[in-house]
Amino acid sequence: MTTPLADRFGRVATDLRVSLTDRCNLRCNYCMPAEGLDWLPTEETLTDDEVVRLITIGVERLGIREVRFTGGEPLLRRGLVDIVGRTHALGVETSLTTNALGLSRTAQALADAGLDRINASIDSVRPETFATITRRDRLKDVVAGLEAARAAGLGPIKLNAVLLRGTNDDQAAELLRWSIAQDYELRFIEQMPLDAQHGWSRESMVTADEIHQALAAEFTLTPHGEPRGSAPAELFDVDGGPATVGIIASVTRPFCGDCDRVRLTADGQVRNCLFAREESDLRTALRSDADDEEIAERWVIAMRGKRAGHGIDDETFLQPDRPMSAIGG
Ligand code: GTP
Ligand code: 5AD
Ligand code: SF4
Repeated sequence: MTTPLADRFGRVATDLRVSLTDRCNLRCNYCMPAEGLDWLPTEETLTDDEVVRLITIGVERLGIREVRFTGGEPLLRRGLVDIVGRTHALGVETSLTTNALGLSRTAQALADAGLDRINASIDSVRPETFATITRRDRLKDVVAGLEAARAAGLGPIKLNAVLLRGTNDDQAAELLRWSIAQDYELRFIEQMPLDAQHGWSRESMVTADEIHQALAAEFTLTPHGEPRGSAPAELFDVDGGPATVGIIASVTRPFCGDCDRVRLTADGQVRNCLFAREESDLRTALRSDADDEEIAERWVIAMRGKRAGHGIDDETFLQPDRPMSAIGG
């Protein structure tokens, strides 16, 4: 029998996002400082077996139907292919959110292990701008990684781009043109207050409306017909289709009311929301010989504290302690 991961507002989480490491091999300036962060020590990080055990509890007892692996950068996790294979064997959809660096080496193994699709970050297709944002001159490797993913049959491939005022906000149309030519599904994301440096401000954020305007100057955008469900992106057909572009208006048009997500951090904490202020410690439970039923119960209880929305516009809003890189996208 499964117990749904329901919250007080009637939402049920069926989409589990598992962060496999807080480390990253890029240093995007809207995410973390140039020197990186104090990474989680190995002993606090769940082992592959612990990760798979929690995913199995989620799938077999709690109604989880989709599992997305995130980071930091999940390709840096040594056991990734094995974890993907064991998750796929549970019969759920599996996906990966990655920066695509090094994907040329692992794409085929991931596909063979049963990975269904990937979403990859790419904020510019100009090598200089890419290097300015990520502080690494690796655009070529990212492009090669994406091609390898496609060749391995990992598709459809979605791309995520964050526009930063004064850096790449003049490149929205260029990114879309490139993505369409390569047959990738591009989505633009509003920047959220989840950076390690706490430098986010509403004024510097490029809004969904601004993004739409910039694109509409060069393309005809028409709302894509199908209902959006719990997907964060508003989808538009580009120049009559079949190409589409997505805009993820997390801040100006929150989609929290339809949220079906729950997150697990690399150190085994359940987060009921990207912006949760409290976490529920499943690692300690795992390591104190709790049985699956007890762990499942803790997880169910953790969902009851999920708030109605992220509250970024509330006067009382507090940025969560963990940055995006330690929560996963
Ligand atoms: P699919 O649409 O199923 O491919 O996945 P996705 O779009 O949820 O996955 P991805 O990891 O690519 O997420 C894209 C971006 O959407 C993230 O980087 C976040 O900026 C945003 N996002 C994802 N989940 C949430 C969420 O629960 N809340 C908010 N506010 N934003 C989210
Ligand atoms: N706001 C919105 N998106 C962000 N990402 C990283 N930090 C932020 C932020 N503060 C994006 C990355 C990647 C995905 C995992 O999250 O660009 O595409
Ligand atoms: Fe790494 Fe992603 Fe942060 Fe960039 S946004 S530094 S790719 S975790």
